[in-house]
Amino acid sequence: MTKSIIITGGAGFIGSHVVRTFVKNYPDTMIINLDALTYAGNLENLRDIEDQPNYIFEKGDIVDPEFLDTIFEKHQPEGIIHLAAESHVDRSILDPMSFVRTNVTGTVNLLNAARKYWGTKLEEKVFYHISTDEVYGSLGDTGYFVESTPYNPQSPYSSSKASSDHFVRAYGNTYGLPVVISNCSNNYGPNQFPEKLIPLIINNIKNRKPLPVYGKGINVRDWLHVEDHAKAIDVVYHKGKNGSTYNIGGFNEWRNIDIVNLTCDLMDQKLGFENSRSLITYVTDRPGHDMRYAIDASKIKKELGWEPHHTFETGIDETIDWYLDNMEWLDHVTSGSYREYYAEQYQDR
Ligand code: NAD
Ligand code: DAU
Repeated sequence: MTKSIIITGGAGFIGSHVVRTFVKNYPDTMIINLDALTYAGNLENLRDIEDQPNYIFEKGDIVDPEFLDTIFEKHQPEGIIHLAAESHVDRSILDPMSFVRTNVTGTVNLLNAARKYWGTKLEEKVFYHISTDEVYGSLGDTGYFVESTPYNPQSPYSSSKASSDHFVRAYGNTYGLPVVISNCSNNYGPNQFPEKLIPLIINNIKNRKPLPVYGKGINVRDWLHVEDHAKAIDVVYHKGKNGSTYNIGGFNEWRNIDIVNLTCDLMDQKLGFENSRSLITYVTDRPGHDMRYAIDASKIKKELGWEPHHTFETGIDETIDWYLDNMEWLDHVTSGSYREYYAEQYQDR
């Protein structure tokens, strides 16, 4: 192998799809999955590719600079695709410091490691940070986030991601590190941890449990299939311009209650349940809940030729099938600490 790329957070939801995409598309490049295996990281997500000759897993924490030194020395990567993060808004409300730790300190540690090991040999190097549309704040009924929309993060999670974006740009500007950032909308698809809306609803319908809808259920999110995001990351990594930002989205806005209703109806058809909609329970709203996110993804389409391929209608149908076919996966990830989290998050709402 002549080249190697470190993908952080490769055992998580999006990271595992990115690792699979790169392992399959670039057989001559060593893909190093660096992940701490927190509650959200799961090597079961990568069983199908773990024996590939161009795949290596390294367990460790990006907050530990000595661990990063060892990994950079060992693998001499020319690229970093950085996805490792605390990713769930509700958890950030319960425990903001763990978001500062991983998302801010961890990102700066990685930037320092890249700077140290790349030195002045920066040709063909890329530090690519995977970020979120939540850094832009909340939209009203109209308008879209574009790459020049001013940052206005509203939650501890989005504030930590905004901070890490700023550090990445600062290292590009100050030290000449070759950096690129993409800010993506809500992902859905296989392997998503069931703290997030869609898998949580699927799991609760299956188990005939209440479906917690925050507030009035009228908040809007723009949903993108995770495989479309992984393809976008491949395109940005290989073709993105040094110092640039790309917004990634699905042109696919849904109110939460409409997604929950659709999921109920599809699961009723598939499993012969009667009126799963009766499980819907409106609960106390998320504090500071952003009303609407919507991405204008025309820059990445125009400059790099990427656009989404999955339609939501088939994507959500196939996603439900994936969870129903992988109940063992769901059982594993919902045992243990998930139960404690679920009780803390939902019992008094
Ligand atoms: P996830 O929570 O499913 O996975 C995060 C991964 O990071 C896990 O494998 C976890 O073990 C690992 N990790 C956490 N802390 C770590 C640490 N200190 N050191 C090493 N590894 C650590 O997250 P996700 O939903 O797959 O999101 C991945 C990235 O994409 C995040 O940076 C997130 O902000 C961003 N993003 C997510 C979405 C979305 O809809 N899920 C949308 C846009 C951007
Ligand atoms: O926009 C990109 C972001 O999307 C990513 O950066 C985050 O990592 C990812 O978690 C996601 O954030 P959201 O907060 O939008 O996703 P979540 O699945 O938590 O919630 C989606 C919507 O559903 C949101 O409006 C809150 C609502 N919701 C969520 C849960 C978990 C409910 O009504 N009930 C619930 O139980």
